[in-house]
Amino acid sequence: MPINFDKETKRWLLETENMGYVFGLDDDQGKIKNLYWGSKLPRVQDYPEVKDLILMDRYTWNDEFSVRGEKNNLEHCLKVEYSDGVRDVVLNYKSFEVSGNDLVIRLSDDHYNLSVNLFYKVIEKYDIIERWVEIENNSNEEIKIEDMKSASLYVENDEKAKLNYLTGMWGSEFHLRREEINEGSKVLESRVGKTSAYLNPFFAIDYSADEDRGKVYFGELAWSGNWKIVVQKRIYERIAIIGGINDWDFSYILEPSEKITTPKFMFGFSDEGFTKASQNIHHYQLDYILPKDKAHKLRKVLYNSWEATTFNVNEENQKILAEKAAKIGVELFVIDDGWFGKRNDDHAGLGDWYVNKEKFPDGLQPLISYVKTLGMDFGIWVEPEMVNPNSELYRKHPDWVISFPNRPKSLQRNQLMLNLAREDVKKFIVDFMDNLLTQNDIDFVKWDMNRHVFESGWMQVEPRKQREIWVKYVWNLYDIWKYLREKHPHVTFENCSSGGGRVDIGLMQYADQVWTSDNTDPFDRLEIQEGFSYAYAPKIMMGWVTDWGGKDTYPLTYRFHSSMMGSLGIGADLNKFSERDFDLARYQVQFYKEIREIVQEGYQFRLSYVTNDRYFAVEYLSKNKDEGVLIYLRNPRRFGLFDRVDVKLKGLENDAVYTVYEGLQGEEKEMIKLSGKALKERGIIIEDSSKDFFETGKVTHFYSRILRLRKSD
Ligand code: DGJ
Repeated sequence: MPINFDKETKRWLLETENMGYVFGLDDDQGKIKNLYWGSKLPRVQDYPEVKDLILMDRYTWNDEFSVRGEKNNLEHCLKVEYSDGVRDVVLNYKSFEVSGNDLVIRLSDDHYNLSVNLFYKVIEKYDIIERWVEIENNSNEEIKIEDMKSASLYVENDEKAKLNYLTGMWGSEFHLRREEINEGSKVLESRVGKTSAYLNPFFAIDYSADEDRGKVYFGELAWSGNWKIVVQKRIYERIAIIGGINDWDFSYILEPSEKITTPKFMFGFSDEGFTKASQNIHHYQLDYILPKDKAHKLRKVLYNSWEATTFNVNEENQKILAEKAAKIGVELFVIDDGWFGKRNDDHAGLGDWYVNKEKFPDGLQPLISYVKTLGMDFGIWVEPEMVNPNSELYRKHPDWVISFPNRPKSLQRNQLMLNLAREDVKKFIVDFMDNLLTQNDIDFVKWDMNRHVFESGWMQVEPRKQREIWVKYVWNLYDIWKYLREKHPHVTFENCSSGGGRVDIGLMQYADQVWTSDNTDPFDRLEIQEGFSYAYAPKIMMGWVTDWGGKDTYPLTYRFHSSMMGSLGIGADLNKFSERDFDLARYQVQFYKEIREIVQEGYQFRLSYVTNDRYFAVEYLSKNKDEGVLIYLRNPRRFGLFDRVDVKLKGLENDAVYTVYEGLQGEEKEMIKLSGKALKERGIIIEDSSKDFFETGKVTHFYSRILRLRKSD
C-alpha cells in the first residue's frame, strides 16, 4: 500500500519503491507537520513522529502547507486577504481520504469558511509524488488570494547540500548550475508570462552526490506562466523548498463558491545519484505527463525548412526541399514561418492566419498533396498568441493586446502579445486553428511563442481582477491545446518558444515534443542537451542537423551524431548538399531509425560532462537492457593529440557478455565481445589519435562515433 495512516501516531506515510515521505497531525494544535522525506525505511516505527520535532520547529517552521499567519513570517504557500481586511490565515485539520495512490488532506480556516485541500498522488515505480492544492471559498464574501503555491517541501539542513538548477538565455538554454545553499532565500522564478529560458522550473538538491551515488532530491513545476521556486535555508533543522505560481504582480479574487486549483509540483528522490533521478524523471514524463495517445509512439524524423528558406517560402521551393528530404528518408516535412498573411519578414503578418496567395497561389493543398505522395507527413508552423502591429488583426482589434494605456507598448521581435485571458481571443485562436487543421491535411503543428510579457495590463476587467491575467492566460492556453488535441487526435504538437523558452511539464501535458534551442551548432548543443537531460526526457528533445556556422565547420556525421541524442530532425539547406552528403545523410537517417527506440524509450546514462571532459558520451539502454547505444563526440577544446579514451559503460549486467559493434544491422562491424563487468571497469577504447577527416578528406578535430551493444545469448 503506497499510502498508510498510522492511527496511533497520527502519521500519513507515503512510500514508493525507494522513497518515504511522512507527515503527521500535531494534535495539540490541529496542524499538519512535515516529518520526513528521504530513503524508504524498513518499519513504520523508523520514521520520525511529531514529538521528535524540536520545539521551535514544531511551532512554526515545517508546516506541510505553510501559510502567512500562524506566527510564520517565512516563505509560505498561501496568503489571502479576507473581506474585513484580516490577512492572517489559520488552517486546521479536518479529515483525509485515501483512494489507491491518491490522498487528500482537508484543512479549513473555519472562521472565514475557506477550505484548502492538499492532494497527493504517489507514483511508486519512479519514486515520485505529485502535489497540488484546491482552495475553495465557502463563504458569502469574496476572498483575495495573494499567493497560492502548490507545496512546501523540506530537506535536511546540512552543509553538504547543493542546489542544482537550469539557467540560460535565448540560444543557450538549459545550462546546469550547482551551488552551495546559504542562509536566506534563493529564488528561481519567471516574471515574463512564460516559463522562460533564463530559469527553468526544476530543482535538485544533492548531498555530495555524483551520477551513481548519493542522495538527490528533485522537483518540477507543471506551469507555463510566471512561476517561483524558493529554496530557503532556515535556522534549525530544515531547508525549505516552496514552489508554485509566482506571487509577483499576482492576485486572484475568489468569488463565493469558487474553487481554484494550483499547478502540480512533483518531487522525487534518488539515493543512487543523478542518473537514477534523471531516468525516473524521464520515464515519469513518458508515462504520466506526455499526452497518452502518442507518449510511447516513436517520434518521426522531420525536416524543417526554416534555416534553409526562412520567410521566403513558396510552393515551388518547398516542393524542391520536400523531394530532397524524402530522398534521405525523412518522414515528416515541416514548413515554418512565412506562409501566411503579408509575412515576408518579422515585421508584419502575425495574426493574419490566411494563406499568402503570392507564395501559395492555390493554397497549401498542392504542397501538402505533393509531400504526401512523397510518402511523408506534413507539418506547419504557427504563432497564435502574437500579433504584429502591422497586421489586419491588430488594426481590427487593437484592444486585444496585453498593454496599459498611457504607457508604451513595448515590441519584442516587432510583435505584441494577444491577451489569451480574454474569452474572445481564446475563441479567435481556437477557431482559426480548428479551420486550419480541418481544411488542410496537416499532421503536425509547431506552435511558437516569441516574446515576453512586459506591460501586463488587462484594462477591460475591473482593476481588482486585472492581475488574474497571469493565470487565466495559462489556463486558456492549456484549454486551447487540450481542445485541439481532442478535436484533431492525429496531429502531433511541438512546443517552441524562441527555442526552449517554454519547456515545463505543464505544457508538456499537451505537447508531444519541444524545440530545444534555436542554437543548432552541434557542439554548443551538447551542453544544452546535457542540461536538458537532467530534467526532461530525450524523446521530447528535438535536435536538427543544420548548416550552423557554415556548412563546412563540422563534419556531417558529427552534426548527425549530436542531433541523435534525442529525437532527430534536419534543418540544413538540402539544396547545398552534394551527392556524397545525400548518401551520408541517407545512411545516418536509416541508422537513427534503427536506434531510435533505444534513445527515445530507453534509459539514458551521462558518461561524461561536456564542460569538463575531453569528450561527451551518452549511453542508452533499451527497456529490457539487452541492447544499447553509445554516442561519443570529441571535445576538441580539451582533447590532446594522440589521446586515447576508455569510455566506461554503465547499467550492464556484470556476467552477461555483450557484443560491441558499429554500423547498420546486416552490415555490422564487430569490435569486441566483453562481459558487462569488463565494459564497466575497463571500458571501450574509442580512439588513440586526434586526426580525423571530414567526409571530404579535410582534417577536422570534430570526431564522433556511435557504437552499439547487444547482449549475447
Ligand atoms: C523561433 C523558432 O525558435 C524558430 O525555430 C523559428 O520557428 C522562428 N521562430 C520562426 O520565426
